[in-house]
Amino acid sequence: MTQISGSSDVPDMGRRQFMNFLTFGTITGVALGSLYPVVKYFIPPSSGGASDGVIAKNALGNDVVVTEFLETHKAGDRVLAQGLKGDPTYIVVTEDNTISDYGINAICTHLGCVVPWVAAENKFKCPCHGSQFDGTGKKVRGPAPLSLPLVHANVTEEDKVAFVPWTETDFRTNENPWWA
Ligand code: FES
Repeated sequence: MTQISGSSDVPDMGRRQFMNFLTFGTITGVALGSLYPVVKYFIPPSSGGASDGVIAKNALGNDVVVTEFLETHKAGDRVLAQGLKGDPTYIVVTEDNTISDYGINAICTHLGCVVPWVAAENKFKCPCHGSQFDGTGKKVRGPAPLSLPLVHANVTEEDKVAFVPWTETDFRTNENPWWA
């Protein structure tokens, strides 16, 4: 593929595409899921903040501000943000109305569609081939072979959310993380 570095216009376009993708991903998961490899290609690396992690960004491309975020989202919500390597990643709101200390990578482990959260059923359901994952992203139905990857989600002193790679035991399976 053509190298994009050197053009100042392309990264902005990529960011816009990505944010459109975040906004409408839960509605048109099939179509946008199939676009994921293309979209990801154009996403410039996120500006970080956390050592080997990144600061979560919302659908407008701005850093997620925890206080504001919790005013507009309720307990149990799973909300897409831009995560590590630009991957769409869910921020989880706990039942205590705080940011969960883990986030969930939204990319289906079958063929890479973005998996929407279906609140009414309390599960993630992939629109492409029907895989299902529980509220923690643990696989409950194939054809996806594996659970959705975890990341750490740390609230920073600046009231932001820092996604950091998860390399420890997967608490859902008690196994080594397959993605690390
Ligand atoms: Fe999700 Fe096939 S890509 S089930």
